[in-house]
Amino acid sequence: MLLDYIKEYKKKTPTSAKLFSKSAKLHVNGVSHNIRFYEPYPFVVKKSAGKNLIDVDDNKYTDYWMGHWALILGHGPKTVKESLQKQIEKSWMYGTVNEQTIKLSELISKAVPVAEKIRYVTSGTEATMYAVRLARSVTGKKIIAKIDGGWHGYTSDLLKSVNWPFSESESSGIVNEEQIVSIPYNDLETSLSILKKHSKDLAGVIIEPVLGGGGCIPAESDYLKGIQEYCKKNNSLFILDEIVTGFRFRFGCLYPTMKLDPDIVTLGKIVGGGLSIGVMCGRKEIMEFADTTGKKKSERSYVGGGTFSANPASMVAGFSTLSELKNKKSIYSKINTIGEYARNELTKSFDGKVIVTGKGSLFMTHFARAGVDEIRNSADVAKCDISTLAKYHFKMIAHDGIFFLPGKLGAISNAHSKEDIKNIVLASEEFTC
Ligand SMILES: Cc1ncc(COP(=O)(O)O)c(C=O)c1O
Repeated sequence: MLLDYIKEYKKKTPTSAKLFSKSAKLHVNGVSHNIRFYEPYPFVVKKSAGKNLIDVDDNKYTDYWMGHWALILGHGPKTVKESLQKQIEKSWMYGTVNEQTIKLSELISKAVPVAEKIRYVTSGTEATMYAVRLARSVTGKKIIAKIDGGWHGYTSDLLKSVNWPFSESESSGIVNEEQIVSIPYNDLETSLSILKKHSKDLAGVIIEPVLGGGGCIPAESDYLKGIQEYCKKNNSLFILDEIVTGFRFRFGCLYPTMKLDPDIVTLGKIVGGGLSIGVMCGRKEIMEFADTTGKKKSERSYVGGGTFSANPASMVAGFSTLSELKNKKSIYSKINTIGEYARNELTKSFDGKVIVTGKGSLFMTHFARAGVDEIRNSADVAKCDISTLAKYHFKMIAHDGIFFLPGKLGAISNAHSKEDIKNIVLASEEFTC
């Protein structure tokens, strides 16, 4: 069956095959982000619009990868395009203070109460790297706890316990791994017992309120409250990584809806409107450790920026995207409803063999093996049949013109409709696992 789909895929993507073989000579794995490769080769995109990606052989795919889940308004939305065109007339890189940044920050700080001070960078990876450094500076402690399966980018500090088996190093070349400890998501008792063992040197805990790359799993509210309470008692910082969840389910972050009060929040993806961005923000008294004026080296937390941080193009794209989301709140009810529909319908379409996790407009299908009745963390995800999931996604690429990055969760944008989900359901019903 899979061989037939590979044949079908090769037949419809000859130009992608040629281009990708060139790409493989020039780039490691042929790609510029490890997860973008899949067998036999990824199709090469020529352009995108709305809900669609178009490849170099003119095949059209309804996209659920949506630019690493950044494109909540779809590909190339009109308002963002027009704002960018205006900005490009004025130029796109200043390397100086600009008004576009102030405008975006005013929007973010009103919507995210903890964002009393903001620092922009150009990726989520940088934002979490600085968040960890800041936590260490503020507390004078070294150990950071993260979740088994938690993904915060490729920063050396947090490249631990990402993929099953979590105890195995993710990479050579990483030092001081003992300063990162990992805890199981949604298991408060075990998590607290691990944190207590490291209490004296625990600088902070970094967590996503919905585990994204780790399996699209919402945190149980009591779990996060328990971790936060422990952090506050122990003078460790509670860092929420809302790079996926920020502005995804509502206009703002997820944490106020869970009655949480984080010390530092990281944002990215949606707030850059499809251009590169990372944001570290937090309460004034914490962020001021990063203030360099009048502080000795030993007193400050030296965090970036970089050449392209707060470049006017990213700022304008972010401002325009957030403005659209703020002005048309119906976007959230629309995409959240479609997401719920997708989870319900997909759960039905595999005769109870799958568990569909997610929240709002994010969803992920897990092929549950015998004995897996629920998915509460990445260890449960690892017990599912991951290779069938990748085959299922590949079948839809090859046969149905539907694109999920194989093995990853899907994101619904404002450009999608309920009809699109019906097409996934039809494609799923044909799939034999
Ligand atoms: C929760 C989370 N944090 C951080 C990152 C890293 O962001 P970036 O890929 O922009 O470096 C990601 C990327 O997917 C993410 O999902």
